[in-house]
Order: sequence, then structure tokens, then C-alpha cells
Amino acid sequence: DGVELTQLIDEPGAHISRRIYGNDEIFELEQDRIFRRAWNFLGHVSELPNPGDYVTRDLAGEPVVLIRGDDGEIRAFLNSCRHRGMRVCRADRDNVSYMRCVYHGWSYSRSGDLVTAFAEELYDPGRLRKEELGLIPVTQVAIYRGVIFGTWDAEAPPLEEYLGDMRFYLDLFLGRTDGGTEVVGAPQVWDVSTDWKFCADNFTGDNFHLYTAHGSVVDLGMLPPDPMSLSYGYLVRAQGGHVLHLVPGPPDPSFEYFGLPRDLVPQFERNLDSVQLGLLKDHAWSVGTVFPNLSFMQVMVQGDIGGPNVTFLSLRAWMPTSATTTRVFSYLLLDRDAPEQFRRDSYEAYVRTFGPSGIFEQDDMENWEDCTRVNKGKIAQRHGLHHGMGLHLEPDPSFPGPGQAWPGSYGERTQLSFYGEWLKWMTHERPWAS
Ligand code: FES
Repeated sequence: DGVELTQLIDEPGAHISRRIYGNDEIFELEQDRIFRRAWNFLGHVSELPNPGDYVTRDLAGEPVVLIRGDDGEIRAFLNSCRHRGMRVCRADRDNVSYMRCVYHGWSYSRSGDLVTAFAEELYDPGRLRKEELGLIPVTQVAIYRGVIFGTWDAEAPPLEEYLGDMRFYLDLFLGRTDGGTEVVGAPQVWDVSTDWKFCADNFTGDNFHLYTAHGSVVDLGMLPPDPMSLSYGYLVRAQGGHVLHLVPGPPDPSFEYFGLPRDLVPQFERNLDSVQLGLLKDHAWSVGTVFPNLSFMQVMVQGDIGGPNVTFLSLRAWMPTSATTTRVFSYLLLDRDAPEQFRRDSYEAYVRTFGPSGIFEQDDMENWEDCTRVNKGKIAQRHGLHHGMGLHLEPDPSFPGPGQAWPGSYGERTQLSFYGEWLKWMTHERPWAS
């Protein structure tokens, strides 16, 4: 509507325009400039243990299928038949010998090659060149610590470069044990009537919504009653606009590793460097977002809610389906080598807190939906949104990890970093290079 994109985000002034939310034109630009170019989360290798296993996902609004081939490789394709465009894999997940289109029966191998078409003898010789009619591959697919990413952009840098020093932090959760992680069951998937950015924003390190949005959990004794008793921690901006929040626990050796199984400590010591090990040992709560829309959290739940003190690890992908709707994929991850009792306790803690019916999740969804609805108002849009908490603080040079780390648990540095990155991708030709 004539407004320059650069007018919508004022990172130094800490103001964000409401126009970026719930706007169809912005949504189309995001699909084009962010989601078609960035490395997007697609799944986890443990979802596809056997040849022929597939899962269906979206990548920048287009259906894709991830399938493990007979050679053990995981490949990703546009989930669309080369004949009339029908989706060739229509279940959320399955195991197949061939991907067979239900419309006219064209069949593709587990490697995406067209194997048979209907009535091949009725084509002129040389007309049906099957070798040119395989499924269209996702342009780049790569795996980091078991997590599968894809991009439609041939010029996107290698995944490891895209993740940059966020890998240091991801390894705290995904690379700490010999066997790595695995997902528990299928992801829980649900739709929320919200702009996806509210979800990602919340997982950049919004610790200050706990005492109001989740006030009931204070009553349940899951959080200390004084909000300022949780004011310590770090808000971290890694390279590439990836951000996270680390909240240490009490300096008490009995709390070390915060609900993670003690049996795994020798593996932590083997797989992490001393700085990573210190961060894992001392921090009870970690939340972050890999730009644009993959979030993670590791949370210790106190025993009176979930049995013994136990930690769970969850991945969240916020897939935008329109300007005002988001499909949420939520995974519980476990270290493959975790003991059985921990697996049960961790699952229970996750379901009770951050599953779709968990006591935290319900509060968040109501807020995100209302923000999306209200910010579409023409009167509301005359006034920007304030993101100015804690901006007077300087990064702490003594923080041992990579990136910039601002001290404290309450602040809006990481939110502003997220929106600054968003603006860069929306306005730059080569955002990863700038
Ligand atoms: Fe797939 Fe015709 S659309 S076989």
C-alpha cells in the first residue's frame, strides 16, 4: 500500500509496525524472499528409519515428500506428479515400494525416477522420455545432527555455513551423546490462527511473558513467585539472526544437568567441549529460534507436576499457511541412549506442559491469535509496537560462547534481532552474504 518495507522495522528505535502481521501482501513476499531462499526445517532422520519410509511436508507453501531410498539416502521432492500435478504421496507418513499416483497410475521409484506410466505403448517412440520425468527434487537438502533441512535456492550457502555459530548451541541439545537424538512417535501437528512471526518471536527468548500469560503455573508452584528471581540469564544473538535464551539454575551441584539422565554425563563429557559442557551443566532452561521458523526448547519440569525433576527437549516448526494461519509441528526429542524411565518421564512432562493441550501451550496460542486479529485493525496500524526492554545493556564480553550475549533474562534484544533479520531477508538480494 505504498509503505516501504524499511519503514516497518525500526530496530534502533525498537519499534515494529503492526502492518507486518496478518497481511496478505507481506505473506506472499515472505514466501518469495524468506521461505523459498532460506534453509527450512523439513524433518528428522529418525522419522524415516527404513527404505521406502516417507513423510509429507510443505516447503515455502508447496508440498514436498521426504523418502528414504533403497540406498539409505533421504531425498526430498516436490510432491507432484509430472503428468497432471497430483500429489503422489497423500498420507502424512507411510512406507511404499513405489510412489504411485492415484490419478492415472504413474509410478515413481523410491529415488524419484519415473518407472512406469499408463499405456506406454500408446506413445510415439521417444515421446515419453521417462528419464526426464522423475519427481522434481528439492534444490538442496542437508542434514545437521539428524535434523533435515531443505531450500529451493541453488545459491543458498551450505547448511553448516547458514547455521554458523548457532551450531555451537544446537550441539548442546542435538550433538551431546554418541547416538544423537531421535523423535518420539509422530510430530503433533495443529493449526493456529496466527501470523507465524508471533510464534518465532515468542521463542527468541520471551521470558517475561511467563508471569502473566502463564500465571497459573506460578500458582502450581512450577515457577518461583517472585518474577525478578528469574531475571538472570543470557539473551544470545548468534550469526545469521539465530537467537537463543539461556537461564541458569541455582548454583547448587545437586542441580547440575537439570533433570537430564546422569547415566549420559560421560557421553556429554565426550561429545562437548568444556565451554559447551559448562553451559549444559548450569542452565535449566534454553529456548531459541533458528531463522526463520525452527524453534527449540529444553526445559526442566519440577517433580510435583511431572514426577521426578525431568528435562524434555522439543523442536517446533512454525509453517505459515496464510497471512493469519500457521501449522505447528511439535516434536519431542530424546537422546537415543537415554534410559527407559527417563524416556517415560520426559514424555509425560512434555505432554503436560508444551503439548497441544499442555498448560503452557494453550495460553500462548490464545495470545498469538488475538495479537494477529487486533493488529489488522486500521486504527491499530497507525501506532507501532514497542520492543524496548533492556536495550541499555551492553553485551557481556565474559560470556564464553560465540555470538553476542546480553546479560539478563528479561529483554527484547533477541526479538529485535529476529525482526532485523526478517527485514534483511525481505529487502536484500543475497541476505546470507550481507
Ligand atoms: Fe499422476 Fe496423471 S496426474 S498419473
